[in-house]
Amino acid sequence: MKVLVVGGGGREHALCNAIVASPLCEKLYCAPGNAGIAAVAECWPIATDKVAEITAAAKAHDVDFVVIGPEIPLALGLADALIAVGIPSFGPSALAAELESSKGFMKDLCARAGVPTAAYKRFTDAEGARAYVREQGAPIVVKADGLAAGKGVTVARSVEEAIAAIDDAMIDQAFGASGAEIVIEECMEGEEVSFFALADGKTTRFFATAQDHKAVFDGDKGPNTGGMGAYSPAPIIDEAMKQRIMREIIEPTAAEMEKMGRPFSGVLFAGLMMTKTGPRLIEFNARFGDPETEVMIPRLKSDLLALLYACSKGMLDGVDIAWHDTAALTVVMAAQGYPGSYQKGTVIHGLDRAATIPHTTVIHAGTQLNAGGEITANGGRVLCITATAPTIAEAQKLAYQAVDQIDWREGFCRRDIGWRALVRNPA
Ligand code: AMP
Ligand code: GLY
Repeated sequence: MKVLVVGGGGREHALCNAIVASPLCEKLYCAPGNAGIAAVAECWPIATDKVAEITAAAKAHDVDFVVIGPEIPLALGLADALIAVGIPSFGPSALAAELESSKGFMKDLCARAGVPTAAYKRFTDAEGARAYVREQGAPIVVKADGLAAGKGVTVARSVEEAIAAIDDAMIDQAFGASGAEIVIEECMEGEEVSFFALADGKTTRFFATAQDHKAVFDGDKGPNTGGMGAYSPAPIIDEAMKQRIMREIIEPTAAEMEKMGRPFSGVLFAGLMMTKTGPRLIEFNARFGDPETEVMIPRLKSDLLALLYACSKGMLDGVDIAWHDTAALTVVMAAQGYPGSYQKGTVIHGLDRAATIPHTTVIHAGTQLNAGGEITANGGRVLCITATAPTIAEAQKLAYQAVDQIDWREGFCRRDIGWRALVRNPA
């Protein structure tokens, strides 16, 4: 089949690498893609929020199946627009994507379905929110209701910090319309895990676990980012815990969505806090994680395209989801200044040398070819250096060996990706 992948980050490069290797894939397109994706797919210069343009281009090129990477086109109804012209896609409808695009919707659903999550209250007026924070005390968490590119959450250590976050969102409108409503919730303690399940509208199947590193600097210091590295699987989740999470969090959510007439198909990405009393939901995402995808996909033995297509056709029951017996780890190389302002267009050397390190892949997250055919940085997160090995410790060694081949003075990376897993399993 002719396949279109929507997105242009490391997640989409990892998806494209696996899709192009599928015997089912006859032709691969990507919108907008990046310099790495261009090696495996024909890239179209269409931004991911241009729903009508993407739909028209897919139709014009006779695309049979679309894989939607990021949350924005999902929230804007790309899956709905595609199905209206007869093209199935991997990814939920806009109504089902509200699990990610409205935290209030997600919290109300969890309350009805009995999914364990932080106690919460929704607010549309700042005064009510301030009064609630004063009454509850700190620590407490303040969240913009809508999508805010990962920046809408404040884990406030004091009442003053929480009130400043409320005023930021509701008075100063730091997140635009996304902050007109906020959710205030209990602060949970524990280790965070990214848990992924596939869904086809009625059936859910466990996919994989991963853990990412959100803080920008070593030792989990500095501001939060989209993720500076990740590894899979998450050692904290054993078979029994995996089943418990499916039973207590994923299955009741999917059942409630179906009951509401918003059947969820695509990937349900649960951000979990492993607390003393068990797994509790932090948030749902309606898409694959980035950089988690970069470490899950290389471990997958089954045909990814067949799996994603089965999700879109309600045929997930019975498909094979098999894994290689390996771990994977990815180190993100970012432009200096990220997650603040950074320079674009700097030239990256040494990618060919990095590719000679065994079991290692250079995934492009934000790159572009310049007029001279050189690979340049075109975003905050620029490369994801990914390695697979029998253990996370060995994958970490290989990934950093490859990182050390790369000559890019304007870039940086964390040197401690995987530390939490290594504390658990040092070998
Ligand atoms: P979110 O965008 O909802 O995933 O939140 C971003 C980050 O904020 C999460 O990865 C957690 O580290 C933290 N966080 C969010 N909600 C809570 C909570 N209720 N308790 C503790 N930490 C939280
Ligand atoms: N790495 C977290 C996310 O994709 O939201």
